[in-house]
Amino acid sequence: MTEPILDITGLNKSFGPVHVLHDVDFAVRAGEVTALVGDNGAGKSTLVKCVAGIYGTDSGRVRFRGEEVHIRGPKDAADLGIEVVYQDLALADNLDIVQNMFLGRERGSAWLLDEANMEQAARETLASLSVRTVKSVRTPVSALSGGQRQTVAIAKSVLWDSKVVLLDEPTAALGVAQTRQVLDLVRRLAEQGLGVVLISHNMADVFEVADRIAVLYLGRMAAEVHTKDVTHGQVVELITAGRSGDIGLARPENAVL
Ligand SMILES: Nc1ncnc2c1ncn2[C@@H]1O[C@H](COP(=O)(O)OP(=O)(O)OP(=O)(O)O)[C@@H](O)[C@H]1O
Ligand SMILES: [Mg+2]
Repeated sequence: MTEPILDITGLNKSFGPVHVLHDVDFAVRAGEVTALVGDNGAGKSTLVKCVAGIYGTDSGRVRFRGEEVHIRGPKDAADLGIEVVYQDLALADNLDIVQNMFLGRERGSAWLLDEANMEQAARETLASLSVRTVKSVRTPVSALSGGQRQTVAIAKSVLWDSKVVLLDEPTAALGVAQTRQVLDLVRRLAEQGLGVVLISHNMADVFEVADRIAVLYLGRMAAEVHTKDVTHGQVVELITAGRSGDIGLARPENAVL
């Protein structure tokens, strides 16, 4: 069994009096897709934002490549190579693909951006991910379809020598063909050696691309299992009840408090 590239233990997070994450353990492995599933409000996005340094945590340890790290802000996470594609996509509509991919990290001097260099890098990144549906990297994002936008957002996250990419519901708003495209891309990221986390409510997608499935139930990690060891039905039961047979929380009923 490979050591996790990112290993979180005992993470707690409250918003004021609301305790959202309870002693959460979560591991991400390089070269694998880990699906993070759970009902609405289970705490998936919150967990991702804690890992990305958007939210501070109340307690917990984070190890990255075997060493303890302290992620105090988004820059700390980015410096480690942890990138997030958020549920509410953060792309600027009025900018083109290259401008979006390099937003805030432009190449060149303050006077003269190295447009040719950035354009080339954007093109190479899309090509390395076998993205073929985007005709020109100078297309404004407002002119792209939902799937193409998602693709650009994902490509942006791997442009920075990323090691771990967390995708918060990348296929939620997509049609069949576009979902296909994004799922292929998710698989390819893992094949390139990245640790990939996929948040999704779609069990078919999860079973298709994930090597492991982690189930959050009311802010508690109910189970972390190999996809091949469980059925759709078991995962649905873990999501809705926190337990399925002998997998899951010992006392899910206590989780409600
Ligand atoms: N900024 C915040 N302030 C207060 N409470 C919050 C905040 N963000 C999230 N919460 C609460 O934390 C809980 C978990 O929310 P979170 O967004 O992590 O769920 P989720 O698993 O991503 O759900 P979904 O599947 O709907 O995206 C919810 O009860 C939510 O109301
Ligand atoms: Mg969410």
